[in-house]
Amino acid sequence: MSFKIALNFEDGVTRFIESNPGETVADAAYRQGINIPLDCRDGACGTCKSFCESGRYDGGSYIEDALSDEEAEEGYCLTCQMKPETDLVLRIDASSEVCKTQVTDFKAVIEDVNPDIQAAKSEADLEKNEALTKQLTDAGEDFQPVLQAFQGGCNS
Ligand code: FES
Repeated sequence: MSFKIALNFEDGVTRFIESNPGETVADAAYRQGINIPLDCRDGACGTCKSFCESGRYDGGSYIEDALSDEEAEEGYCLTCQMKPETDLVLRIDASSEVCKTQVTDFKAVIEDVNPDIQAAKSEADLEKNEALTKQLTDAGEDFQPVLQAFQGGCNS
């Protein structure tokens, strides 16, 4: 069952997302283009700590350093671990601008392909291909078309 989640940011902006069954709030937010604060994604750092204003959820697993029992009882939660059991209202202690909640379009034209990519392809240098794939992946979403073109070329 999917649930609706209201994310209230500290600058007064509210954004609504939907979670898929079994999906964490953080994963749901990222899937819908909202980059709520995260670091470890493993319940260890507390970077994603938020406050649940209403709703029920499974808090997941985490260590005391990330979220104490007292904080959990007060309503604090870790978005990287929590899975909604009802619709939720969460207070996110970050501005909507930092979380890039605005709808954004990117347009790009690929004018050239790096000769290193061609060389790696022609030499079937698997190790180099993996390194280039990692670099393009780490470069972010703007480079996804390049990554897809590269991977398509490697599989052809
Ligand atoms: S991102 Fe580290 S505890 Fe959630």
